[in-house]
Amino acid sequence: MSEFPQLPAGFRFGMSTAAYQIEGAVEEDGRGVSIWDTFTHEPGRIRGGENGDVAIDHYHRWESDLAHLADAGIHDYRFSIAWPRIVPRGTGSANETGLAFYDRLVDGLLARGIRPVPTLYHWDLPQALEDRGGWLARETAEAFADYVGIVAERLGDRVRDWITLNEMSVHTLYGYALTDHAPGRGLGFEALPAAHHQLLAHGLAVRALRSAGAERVGVAAQHFPVEAASDAEEDLVAAGTFHALTNRLFAQPILAGSYPEELRPLLPLDDAQLASDLAVISAPLDFYGVNYYEPVRIEAPRAGVDYAGTLEVDIPEGLPFAPVPYPSEERTDFGWAIVPAGLTAVLAELHESYPGMPPIVITENGASFHDVPNADGTVNDPRRIAYLDAHLRAVADAVAAGVDVRGYYVWSAFDNFEWAAGYQERFGLVYVDYATQERIRKSSWAWYRDVIAANASSPTPSSDGQEQA
Ligand code: BGC
Repeated sequence: MSEFPQLPAGFRFGMSTAAYQIEGAVEEDGRGVSIWDTFTHEPGRIRGGENGDVAIDHYHRWESDLAHLADAGIHDYRFSIAWPRIVPRGTGSANETGLAFYDRLVDGLLARGIRPVPTLYHWDLPQALEDRGGWLARETAEAFADYVGIVAERLGDRVRDWITLNEMSVHTLYGYALTDHAPGRGLGFEALPAAHHQLLAHGLAVRALRSAGAERVGVAAQHFPVEAASDAEEDLVAAGTFHALTNRLFAQPILAGSYPEELRPLLPLDDAQLASDLAVISAPLDFYGVNYYEPVRIEAPRAGVDYAGTLEVDIPEGLPFAPVPYPSEERTDFGWAIVPAGLTAVLAELHESYPGMPPIVITENGASFHDVPNADGTVNDPRRIAYLDAHLRAVADAVAAGVDVRGYYVWSAFDNFEWAAGYQERFGLVYVDYATQERIRKSSWAWYRDVIAANASSPTPSSDGQEQA
C-alpha cells in the first residue's frame, strides 16, 4: 500500500473520462453530429478504421459504471459534457433529452458521494459549427458561451466545480495545425486563430459560469517540459519556439493576460481587440488543471534528415523545429517515455513563471499498457501501478518544493476510444472487453482504491459529495 504523507490535507483523488471516448450512442436522443463523428468515418484517419459510435456504451451503462468509481472511493469524477447532445447544431435551442442524461449522471454521482467535475468541451465540436469555420471563427467562442450558460443553468444547482476546455493546445496542434485529430485541417501556423478563439471561449465561459453562480472554475491544459536535443544555440532556439507554441501560448494569456511576444505577429487582430480579449481570457480562476504524460525533445531541423515518421504524428516539412524521440529506457505500450520527474518540472515551472497562479489540480495523468485478462479472468497491470505510484511521488516532490497542488485524477477510469489510435491503447483502471462490453477491474484499480484509503487526510465525501475543500 502506498502512502504519500507529503500530500496536503484535503488532497482530492479522482478519475477522468471524456464524452466521445466513452459514451457511444452517437445518434440517440437528438444528439447532433460532432467533428469526431465526421473525422472517424473518413477512410484512413483512425487506426483500424475504428470510431466512437459505440465506444464503451457508457450512455446506456452509466449507472453500473458509477459503481466502479464509487467502490474505489474517489472524491472527484471528471467527465465531459458533449456539446452536440445539448445544442445539436452548435447554436439554437437546447435539447432536453441531452440535458436529462447529464442531470441523471450528476445526481447519480452525488448520491454516491462523488463530486462531479464536468469539462464543458473535450474536442467534440458540433459539425454545424465546423462547417461555419470551426475554431477559426470568432462566433464559435460566442456559441460556446451560450451553450455553457444553458448547461450551468440546468446543472449549476448541484455542480460546483467546472472545467471550461480540455487541452486547447492539443486540439489546435493536432486538429488545426496538423491532420492527426478532427477536424484534420493541416493549416500549420495559420492555425493560430483556433488557439485564440478557444482561449476567448474559455474566458467567455468563465464569465457565463460566474454569472450562473459557479463556485469553482478552472481549465485543463496539457503541459510538458520541452528539452533541447543539445546545448547548441539552434537547438535551444528551436526548443524555445516549440515551448512558446505549445505550453506558453495557452498558459500565459490565461495566467498572465498576455501572449508570448514572438507569437503576436501570427495573430490577425488589432491591438485594441487583442487587449480587450486578453482581459476576458485572463479572468481569475479557482484552480488550474494540468494534464501530464511525457516530456518532449526538440532539435533544429538538420539538413538531409527526414523527420517524417520519427513520432506517431505526421510532421509537415519546413518547420523551425523538429520533435525527436525522447531518450528513455522506459516506455508505455503506446511508446511514450516514462519520466515522472517531468511532472515535477512542469509544476515547478508553472509555479515560478506565474506567481500568484491558482492552486493546481492534476486533471489527467496515466498510461496505456496493453494488459489483457489472464486465464482466471483477472487483469494484472503492474506497470500501470508503477507508473501511477511514481507520478504521485513526483507530485509530492513538487508539493514539498512549495507548489500548491490540491488533487490528482487518473486518466482514465475505463479503457476507451483513444482518438487516432483507436481501441488498441488502453489507459483504464477498469478493463473493457469491447466485444461484450464486460468491465473488469484491473489490479491498478485496487491499488488506487487502497492509495485513496491510506491517505486518510483526504476528505471523506459527505452524502451529497459537496463537502468544503
Ligand atoms: C486527452 C485525452 C487522451 C489522453 C491520452 C489527453 O491528451 O485529454 O482525451 O485520451 O491525453 O492520450
